Amino acid sequence: MTSSVAAFTGAAVPKLIAPPPVEPPGPGEVRCKTLLLGICGTDRDILESTSPACPVGSGFLVLGHECLARVEQVGPEVTDCEPGDLVVPAVRRPRQQDNESSDQIRRRVDMVPWGNYVERGIVAEHGFSLPAWIDRPEFLFPVSPEIKDTAVLAEPISVSEKAVREAEQIQNARLGDEWQRQAPRVLVTGLGPIAFAAAIVCRARGWPVTMYGRDDPDSFRAGLVTSFDCDYVHEGVYDWALADVEEDGFDLILECTGNDVVMMQAAGTLASCGILVWEGSTRLPQPCQHNVAEIMRAGILRNHVYLGTVNNAPVDMGRALEHLVSQRPRYGSAIRQLVTRQVSVDESLWHYQNREPQGVKTVVVFD
Ligand code: BGC
Repeated sequence: MTSSVAAFTGAAVPKLIAPPPVEPPGPGEVRCKTLLLGICGTDRDILESTSPACPVGSGFLVLGHECLARVEQVGPEVTDCEPGDLVVPAVRRPRQQDNESSDQIRRRVDMVPWGNYVERGIVAEHGFSLPAWIDRPEFLFPVSPEIKDTAVLAEPISVSEKAVREAEQIQNARLGDEWQRQAPRVLVTGLGPIAFAAAIVCRARGWPVTMYGRDDPDSFRAGLVTSFDCDYVHEGVYDWALADVEEDGFDLILECTGNDVVMMQAAGTLASCGILVWEGSTRLPQPCQHNVAEIMRAGILRNHVYLGTVNNAPVDMGRALEHLVSQRPRYGSAIRQLVTRQVSVDESLWHYQNREPQGVKTVVVFD
Protein backbone atom coordinates (compact mmCIF):
# COMPACT_ATOMS: atom_id res chain seq x y z
CA MET A 1 0.00 0.00 0.00
CA THR A 2 1.22 3.55 -0.77
CA SER A 3 2.65 5.35 2.27
CA SER A 4 2.33 9.01 3.22
CA VAL A 5 5.18 11.39 4.06
CA ALA A 6 4.74 13.23 7.36
CA ALA A 7 6.63 15.79 9.48
CA PHE A 8 6.66 15.04 13.21
CA THR A 9 6.98 17.47 16.10
CA GLY A 10 10.57 17.41 17.35
CA ALA A 11 12.00 15.73 14.24
CA ALA A 12 13.83 17.25 11.27
CA VAL A 13 13.57 13.99 9.34
CA PRO A 14 10.39 13.10 7.43
CA LYS A 15 8.82 9.71 8.04
CA LEU A 16 6.73 7.31 6.02
CA ILE A 17 3.44 6.49 7.71
CA ALA A 18 0.44 4.36 6.86
CA PRO A 19 -2.12 6.76 5.37
CA PRO A 20 -5.18 7.37 7.55
CA PRO A 21 -8.28 5.56 6.23
CA VAL A 22 -10.62 7.64 4.04
CA GLU A 23 -14.40 7.40 4.27
CA PRO A 24 -16.61 7.64 1.18
CA PRO A 25 -17.50 11.27 0.38
CA GLY A 26 -20.46 12.77 2.26
CA PRO A 27 -22.99 15.26 0.84
CA GLY A 28 -21.18 18.04 -1.06
CA GLU A 29 -17.85 16.21 -0.79
CA VAL A 30 -15.46 14.68 -3.29
CA ARG A 31 -12.94 11.89 -2.87
CA CYS A 32 -9.71 12.45 -4.79
CA LYS A 33 -6.63 10.39 -5.55
CA THR A 34 -3.20 12.05 -5.64
CA LEU A 35 -1.36 11.40 -8.91
CA LEU A 36 1.65 13.74 -8.68
CA LEU A 37 3.01 15.80 -5.80
CA GLY A 38 5.66 18.53 -5.98
CA ILE A 39 8.24 18.94 -3.22
CA CYS A 40 9.01 22.55 -2.36
CA GLY A 41 11.21 24.72 -0.15
CA THR A 42 8.30 25.17 2.25
CA ASP A 43 8.30 21.39 2.94
CA ARG A 44 12.01 21.60 3.74
CA ASP A 45 11.42 24.64 5.97
CA ILE A 46 8.70 22.82 7.90
CA LEU A 47 11.02 19.89 8.54
CA GLU A 48 13.98 22.10 9.48
CA SER A 49 11.82 23.93 12.01
CA THR A 50 11.07 20.61 13.81
CA SER A 51 7.76 22.20 14.78
CA PRO A 52 5.23 21.58 12.04
CA ALA A 53 1.83 23.24 12.48
CA CYS A 54 -0.01 19.94 13.01
CA PRO A 55 -3.78 19.54 12.84
CA VAL A 56 -5.43 19.79 16.27
CA GLY A 57 -4.91 16.55 18.19
CA SER A 58 -2.21 15.23 15.83
CA GLY A 59 1.53 14.90 16.56
CA PHE A 60 2.37 15.01 12.85
CA LEU A 61 1.51 16.83 9.65
CA VAL A 62 1.08 14.95 6.38
CA LEU A 63 3.14 17.00 3.89
CA GLY A 64 2.40 17.94 0.28
CA HIS A 65 0.63 20.99 -1.10
CA GLU A 66 1.50 21.04 -4.83
CA CYS A 67 -0.79 18.36 -6.14
CA LEU A 68 -2.33 16.96 -9.29
CA ALA A 69 -5.21 14.63 -8.43
CA ARG A 70 -8.07 12.72 -10.01
CA VAL A 71 -11.63 12.76 -8.71
CA GLU A 72 -12.49 9.18 -7.72
CA GLN A 73 -15.95 9.48 -6.23
CA VAL A 74 -18.44 12.29 -5.65
CA GLY A 75 -20.93 12.51 -2.80
CA PRO A 76 -24.62 13.44 -3.02
CA GLU A 77 -25.38 16.98 -4.23
CA VAL A 78 -22.07 17.41 -6.06
CA THR A 79 -22.67 18.73 -9.56
CA ASP A 80 -19.40 20.60 -10.38
CA CYS A 81 -17.19 17.59 -10.99
CA GLU A 82 -17.35 13.91 -11.72
CA PRO A 83 -15.19 10.81 -11.33
CA GLY A 84 -12.22 10.86 -13.69
CA ASP A 85 -11.81 14.65 -13.67
CA LEU A 86 -8.27 15.95 -13.17
CA VAL A 87 -7.98 18.65 -10.53
CA VAL A 88 -5.47 20.81 -8.66
CA PRO A 89 -6.50 21.55 -5.07
CA ALA A 90 -6.23 24.95 -3.36
CA VAL A 91 -3.68 25.11 -0.54
CA ARG A 92 -5.15 27.79 1.73
CA ARG A 93 -8.69 27.73 3.09
CA PRO A 94 -10.46 30.05 5.55
CA ARG A 95 -10.98 28.67 9.03
CA GLN A 96 -14.54 27.64 9.76
CA GLN A 97 -15.32 30.53 12.10
CA ASP A 98 -14.12 32.99 9.45
CA ASN A 99 -16.95 31.87 7.18
CA GLU A 100 -19.35 33.84 9.32
CA SER A 101 -17.24 37.00 9.11
CA SER A 102 -19.10 40.01 7.77
CA ASP A 103 -15.88 41.51 6.40
CA GLN A 104 -16.45 41.08 2.67
CA ILE A 105 -14.09 43.82 1.54
CA ARG A 106 -10.79 42.09 2.05
CA ARG A 107 -10.48 38.97 -0.12
CA ARG A 108 -10.87 35.99 2.17
CA VAL A 109 -8.33 33.18 1.98
CA ASP A 110 -5.05 34.65 0.67
CA MET A 111 -5.45 38.08 2.29
CA VAL A 112 -6.60 37.09 5.78
CA PRO A 113 -4.23 37.42 8.75
CA TRP A 114 -2.26 34.51 10.17
CA GLY A 115 -4.53 32.38 12.34
CA ASN A 116 -7.63 32.85 10.18
CA TYR A 117 -6.73 30.17 7.68
CA VAL A 118 -5.40 26.67 7.33
CA GLU A 119 -3.10 25.48 4.55
CA ARG A 120 -3.22 21.86 3.51
CA GLY A 121 0.19 20.32 4.09
CA ILE A 122 1.54 23.51 5.71
CA VAL A 123 -0.71 24.94 8.42
CA ALA A 124 -2.99 22.80 10.64
CA GLU A 125 -4.41 20.48 7.98
CA HIS A 126 -2.92 17.38 6.46
CA GLY A 127 -1.60 17.76 2.93
CA PHE A 128 -1.88 15.59 -0.14
CA SER A 129 0.85 13.02 0.42
CA LEU A 130 -2.05 10.62 0.66
CA PRO A 131 -3.32 8.05 -1.81
CA ALA A 132 -6.86 9.39 -1.26
CA TRP A 133 -8.45 12.35 0.49
CA ILE A 134 -11.74 14.18 0.89
CA ASP A 135 -12.34 17.75 -0.26
CA ARG A 136 -15.06 20.12 -1.40
CA PRO A 137 -15.45 21.11 -5.06
CA GLU A 138 -14.98 24.83 -4.36
CA PHE A 139 -11.34 24.09 -3.48
CA LEU A 140 -10.66 22.07 -6.63
CA PHE A 141 -9.56 23.62 -9.93
CA PRO A 142 -10.33 21.66 -13.11
CA VAL A 143 -7.33 20.66 -15.22
CA SER A 144 -7.46 20.17 -18.98
CA PRO A 145 -6.08 16.68 -19.85
CA GLU A 146 -3.62 18.23 -22.34
CA ILE A 147 -1.57 19.66 -19.45
CA LYS A 148 -1.67 16.52 -17.30
CA ASP A 149 2.15 16.34 -17.45
CA THR A 150 2.75 19.88 -16.15
CA ALA A 151 -0.32 20.76 -14.02
CA VAL A 152 1.52 19.74 -10.84
CA LEU A 153 3.39 23.05 -11.37
CA ALA A 154 0.17 25.08 -11.30
CA GLU A 155 0.38 25.88 -7.59
CA PRO A 156 3.87 27.46 -7.63
CA ILE A 157 3.01 29.22 -10.90
CA SER A 158 -0.13 30.64 -9.25
CA VAL A 159 2.03 32.11 -6.46
CA SER A 160 4.09 34.04 -9.02
CA GLU A 161 0.96 34.90 -10.98
CA LYS A 162 -0.42 36.62 -7.88
CA ALA A 163 2.86 38.52 -7.42
CA VAL A 164 2.75 39.83 -10.99
CA ARG A 165 -1.01 40.46 -11.07
CA GLU A 166 -0.80 42.54 -7.89
CA ALA A 167 2.16 44.51 -9.25
CA GLU A 168 0.17 45.13 -12.44
CA GLN A 169 -2.90 46.28 -10.51
CA ILE A 170 -0.87 48.69 -8.41
CA GLN A 171 0.85 50.10 -11.48
CA ASN A 172 -2.44 50.40 -13.39
CA ALA A 173 -3.86 52.36 -10.47
CA ARG A 174 -1.01 54.87 -10.38
CA LEU A 175 0.45 54.85 -13.90
CA GLY A 176 -2.65 54.23 -16.01
CA ASP A 177 -2.01 51.94 -18.97
CA GLU A 178 1.75 52.52 -19.12
CA TRP A 179 2.60 48.82 -18.74
CA GLN A 180 0.13 47.95 -21.50
CA ARG A 181 1.69 50.51 -23.85
CA GLN A 182 5.29 49.76 -22.94
CA ALA A 183 6.16 46.32 -21.55
CA PRO A 184 7.95 46.59 -18.18
CA ARG A 185 11.54 45.43 -18.11
CA VAL A 186 11.60 42.53 -15.65
CA LEU A 187 14.37 41.17 -13.45
CA VAL A 188 13.81 37.82 -11.73
CA THR A 189 16.38 36.93 -9.07
CA GLY A 190 16.94 33.21 -8.44
CA LEU A 191 16.76 29.98 -10.40
CA GLY A 192 14.37 27.96 -8.25
CA PRO A 193 10.79 26.91 -9.05
CA ILE A 194 9.23 30.22 -8.00
CA ALA A 195 11.76 32.15 -10.10
CA PHE A 196 10.99 30.06 -13.19
CA ALA A 197 7.27 30.43 -12.39
CA ALA A 198 7.83 34.20 -12.35
CA ALA A 199 9.56 34.01 -15.73
CA ILE A 200 6.66 31.98 -17.18
CA VAL A 201 3.94 34.42 -16.07
CA CYS A 202 5.93 37.38 -17.40
CA ARG A 203 6.77 35.70 -20.71
CA ALA A 204 3.06 34.78 -21.04
CA ARG A 205 2.43 38.55 -20.96
CA GLY A 206 5.13 39.07 -23.60
CA TRP A 207 7.41 40.99 -21.23
CA PRO A 208 11.21 40.91 -21.60
CA VAL A 209 12.80 39.06 -18.68
CA THR A 210 16.33 38.94 -17.29
CA MET A 211 17.07 36.21 -14.75
CA TYR A 212 19.88 36.50 -12.22
CA GLY A 213 21.49 33.42 -10.67
CA ARG A 214 24.66 31.90 -9.29
CA ASP A 215 25.02 29.10 -11.81
CA ASP A 216 27.60 29.08 -14.60
CA PRO A 217 26.22 30.18 -17.96
CA ASP A 218 26.81 26.69 -19.38
CA SER A 219 24.85 24.94 -16.59
CA PHE A 220 21.51 23.19 -17.04
CA ARG A 221 19.49 25.83 -15.21
CA ALA A 222 21.14 28.71 -17.08
CA GLY A 223 20.20 26.85 -20.28
CA LEU A 224 16.60 26.68 -19.11
CA VAL A 225 16.62 30.46 -18.71
CA THR A 226 17.45 30.75 -22.41
CA SER A 227 14.75 28.19 -23.29
CA PHE A 228 12.21 30.64 -21.89
CA ASP A 229 13.69 33.39 -24.12
CA CYS A 230 15.02 35.20 -21.06
CA ASP A 231 18.44 36.82 -20.70
CA TYR A 232 20.76 35.34 -18.10
CA VAL A 233 23.11 37.33 -15.87
CA HIS A 234 25.16 35.64 -13.20
CA GLU A 235 26.89 36.33 -9.94
CA GLY A 236 30.50 37.38 -10.22
CA VAL A 237 30.08 38.87 -13.68
CA TYR A 238 26.98 41.02 -13.40
CA ASP A 239 27.68 44.58 -12.32
CA TRP A 240 24.79 45.77 -10.15
CA ALA A 241 26.07 49.35 -10.27
CA LEU A 242 24.32 50.52 -13.45
CA ALA A 243 25.64 53.64 -15.12
CA ASP A 244 22.10 54.83 -15.85
CA VAL A 245 19.34 53.17 -13.85
CA GLU A 246 16.56 54.72 -15.96
CA GLU A 247 18.13 53.51 -19.18
CA ASP A 248 19.50 50.14 -18.08
CA GLY A 249 17.43 49.32 -14.97
CA PHE A 250 14.18 47.41 -14.40
CA ASP A 251 10.53 48.36 -13.95
CA LEU A 252 9.57 45.15 -12.14
CA ILE A 253 11.83 43.04 -9.95
CA LEU A 254 10.59 39.67 -8.73
CA GLU A 255 12.87 38.73 -5.85
CA CYS A 256 12.81 34.95 -5.54
CA THR A 257 16.06 34.17 -3.69
CA GLY A 258 15.01 35.28 -0.21
CA ASN A 259 18.58 36.53 0.12
CA ASP A 260 18.86 40.02 1.61
CA VAL A 261 22.18 40.80 -0.12
CA VAL A 262 20.72 39.96 -3.55
CA MET A 263 17.56 41.90 -2.70
CA MET A 264 19.51 45.03 -1.74
CA GLN A 265 21.64 44.85 -4.89
CA ALA A 266 18.60 44.27 -7.08
CA ALA A 267 16.76 47.18 -5.44
CA GLY A 268 19.55 49.47 -6.68
CA THR A 269 18.55 48.65 -10.28
CA LEU A 270 14.93 49.77 -9.92
CA ALA A 271 14.03 52.51 -12.43
CA SER A 272 11.63 55.33 -11.56
CA CYS A 273 8.14 54.17 -10.57
CA GLY A 274 9.48 50.60 -10.42
CA ILE A 275 8.09 47.91 -8.17
CA LEU A 276 10.01 45.21 -6.33
CA VAL A 277 8.08 42.16 -5.16
CA TRP A 278 9.30 39.88 -2.36
CA GLU A 279 8.38 36.32 -3.26
CA GLY A 280 11.00 34.48 -1.22
CA SER A 281 12.28 34.76 2.32
CA THR A 282 14.41 32.92 4.79
CA ARG A 283 12.66 31.20 7.70
CA LEU A 284 15.24 32.42 10.23
CA PRO A 285 16.16 36.02 9.30
CA GLN A 286 19.49 37.09 10.79
CA PRO A 287 20.45 40.67 11.70
CA CYS A 288 23.01 42.20 9.33
CA GLN A 289 24.13 45.58 8.05
CA HIS A 290 22.91 47.12 4.82
CA ASN A 291 22.60 50.68 3.65
CA VAL A 292 18.82 50.66 3.92
CA ALA A 293 18.75 54.47 4.01
CA GLU A 294 20.03 54.48 0.42
CA ILE A 295 17.15 52.25 -0.67
CA MET A 296 14.73 54.50 1.22
CA ARG A 297 16.18 57.61 -0.43
CA ALA A 298 15.95 56.12 -3.93
CA GLY A 299 12.51 54.74 -3.11
CA ILE A 300 11.22 58.20 -2.28
CA LEU A 301 12.91 60.10 -5.09
CA ARG A 302 11.95 57.49 -7.69
CA ASN A 303 8.44 56.59 -6.44
CA HIS A 304 9.28 52.93 -5.83
CA VAL A 305 6.91 50.32 -4.45
CA TYR A 306 8.01 47.33 -2.32
CA LEU A 307 5.42 44.59 -2.17
CA GLY A 308 5.20 41.35 -0.19
CA THR A 309 2.93 38.59 -1.43
CA VAL A 310 2.03 35.03 -0.45
CA ASN A 311 -0.26 32.26 -1.63
CA ASN A 312 -2.82 33.01 -4.37
CA ALA A 313 -6.39 34.02 -5.09
CA PRO A 314 -8.61 31.64 -7.06
CA VAL A 315 -8.11 33.85 -10.13
CA ASP A 316 -4.37 33.22 -9.92
CA MET A 317 -4.75 29.46 -9.92
CA GLY A 318 -7.14 29.76 -12.88
CA ARG A 319 -4.63 31.88 -14.78
CA ALA A 320 -1.72 29.58 -13.89
CA LEU A 321 -3.62 26.71 -15.49
CA GLU A 322 -4.42 28.91 -18.51
CA HIS A 323 -0.73 29.82 -18.91
CA LEU A 324 0.17 26.12 -18.91
CA VAL A 325 -2.26 25.62 -21.80
CA SER A 326 -1.45 28.80 -23.76
CA GLN A 327 2.33 28.58 -23.35
CA ARG A 328 2.46 24.89 -24.27
CA PRO A 329 3.23 25.40 -27.98
CA ARG A 330 6.09 27.81 -27.21
CA TYR A 331 7.49 26.67 -23.87
CA GLY A 332 5.96 23.22 -23.29
CA SER A 333 9.31 21.46 -23.46
CA ALA A 334 11.02 24.01 -21.17
CA ILE A 335 8.15 23.77 -18.66
CA ARG A 336 8.41 19.95 -18.63
CA GLN A 337 12.14 20.26 -17.97
CA LEU A 338 11.42 22.13 -14.73
CA VAL A 339 10.55 18.71 -13.31
CA THR A 340 14.14 17.63 -12.84
CA ARG A 341 13.41 14.43 -10.92
CA GLN A 342 10.49 12.01 -10.54
CA VAL A 343 10.57 9.69 -7.54
CA SER A 344 8.29 7.17 -5.83
CA VAL A 345 6.94 7.94 -2.35
CA ASP A 346 9.51 5.57 -0.82
CA GLU A 347 12.36 7.29 -2.67
CA SER A 348 11.14 10.79 -1.85
CA LEU A 349 12.41 11.22 1.74
CA TRP A 350 15.90 12.44 0.76
CA HIS A 351 14.34 15.07 -1.51
CA TYR A 352 12.21 16.43 1.34
CA GLN A 353 15.44 17.46 3.06
CA ASN A 354 17.88 18.15 0.23
CA ARG A 355 18.05 19.92 -3.10
CA GLU A 356 19.94 18.56 -6.07
CA PRO A 357 22.58 21.04 -7.29
CA GLN A 358 20.91 21.66 -10.68
CA GLY A 359 17.46 20.56 -9.56
CA VAL A 360 14.37 22.71 -9.98
CA LYS A 361 11.36 20.59 -9.02
CA THR A 362 11.23 17.05 -7.67
CA VAL A 363 7.87 15.38 -8.21
CA VAL A 364 6.59 12.36 -6.30
CA VAL A 365 4.66 9.90 -8.46
CA PHE A 366 1.81 8.03 -6.76
CA ASP A 367 0.61 4.80 -8.29
C1 BGC B 1 2.83 27.78 -0.92
C2 BGC B 1 1.75 28.81 -0.67
C3 BGC B 1 1.66 29.09 0.81
C4 BGC B 1 3.03 29.53 1.33
C5 BGC B 1 3.05 29.89 2.81
C6 BGC B 1 4.13 28.20 -0.30
O1 BGC B 1 5.07 27.20 -0.45
O2 BGC B 1 3.02 27.58 -2.30
O3 BGC B 1 0.51 28.35 -1.17
O4 BGC B 1 0.70 30.09 1.07
O5 BGC B 1 3.97 28.50 1.08
O6 BGC B 1 2.70 28.85 3.65
